[in-house]
Amino acid sequence: MKKFIKIVTLSALCTSALFGFDPKVLSERSNTGYKYEGKLEYKIPDVNTIPDNQFGELVKYGKELIVHTSKYIGPEVEDPKMRFAGNNLQCQTCHLDAGTKAYSAPFIGTTAAFPQYRPREDTIGTLAERINGCMQRSMNGYPLPQDSKEMKAMEAYMFWLSQGIPVGGATALEGRGLAKIDRKMIKKQAANPEKGKVVYEQQCASCHGINGEGIKNEGRANGYIYPPLWGEDSYNKGAGMYRVLKAADFIKSNMPLGATKENPILTDEEAYNVAAYMNMDSHYRPEKINRKNDFPDEVVKAPDVYREGIETKEHQVGPFGKIIK
Ligand code: HEC
Ligand code: HEC
Repeated sequence: MKKFIKIVTLSALCTSALFGFDPKVLSERSNTGYKYEGKLEYKIPDVNTIPDNQFGELVKYGKELIVHTSKYIGPEVEDPKMRFAGNNLQCQTCHLDAGTKAYSAPFIGTTAAFPQYRPREDTIGTLAERINGCMQRSMNGYPLPQDSKEMKAMEAYMFWLSQGIPVGGATALEGRGLAKIDRKMIKKQAANPEKGKVVYEQQCASCHGINGEGIKNEGRANGYIYPPLWGEDSYNKGAGMYRVLKAADFIKSNMPLGATKENPILTDEEAYNVAAYMNMDSHYRPEKINRKNDFPDEVVKAPDVYREGIETKEHQVGPFGKIIK
């Protein structure tokens, strides 16, 4: 009997290693025991309703920080103690329109979604920890102290943007997160960076530059007109945008600038290919330290997490059919 159990656990282990990511396990772990059944409307609150008091001041500062991140906590600010971000991107560079554009990972409803299970850390994470996740990865920098004015301000702004969304109900809101490109296609087909290069040159290079370098604004700590997509001043390899599926999802409904989920410019395949081109090994990108500790549990490790020497090429560009259960 004992031997039998051993064999069963062993084969369970092997199966999980073989199949990799299991969305069912992720959904079980993300269960908060509550499901909102009503209808929710994606609504951007009117800035004129921000009250004229201490709370309102903090909300406004939070919005400033999302829109002009580099000016307050970027690597070029005067005060070395305030240099929390490691690159000159703004939060708004990805969370478009001050974090209000649907399907660009908006902050509408965010406050109602935390704390939540985080597969990357295999633990329950708070909103402050999630913000610091982007600080250390997308912004290639350092965590903000939880009791800092900047952290409180970002939280206050997200709270204000999440007004009316019931706690625990954010998943019922259309427009949150990113819109997924065809998950059947990505299971069968690998992304092709050579084809992605052609898309890049035709659809992206005019703004982001032929070498992905972007165009900087005049003046110090002033960010970019068009942000870089790779190079020293870009997001690091621990960022969500480094993952081909996340990047493709973002690009499909947001890029070239002006695209929306309802009116995309690229096909799913073009978005997939250009995401692979953008994140190619030969395009320099800063490393995230201790990235080997990410996703400690194989069963919930996102299929498109690619770490050289740890994962195979398939995790970088697909096809993802064998990785996703
Ligand atoms: C390079 C792109 C990029 C930049 C810059 C960036 N983020 Fe993110 N952020 C993402 C992506 C991608 C996600 C995950 C979206 C998803 O999976 O739905 C995310 C998710 C989040 C979430 C979770 C939102 C939710 O409702 O669940 C928060 C909060 C967040 N980011 C805050 C920030 C803050 C604050 C900054 C600036 C300090 C920032 N991000 C900068 C790409 C970025
Ligand atoms: C008309 C100019 C323009 C074109 C063309 C364009 N982008 Fe962008 N892109 C932007 C701007 C501007 C932002 C930042 C948004 C902001 O700051 O409000 C951005 C942000 C991004 C981001 C997130 C931030 C970052 O730096 O990583 C990615 C990824 C991206 N673009 C990819 C692409 C891809 C891929 C294409 C081609 C399919 C493309 N863009 C075409 C202007 C453009």
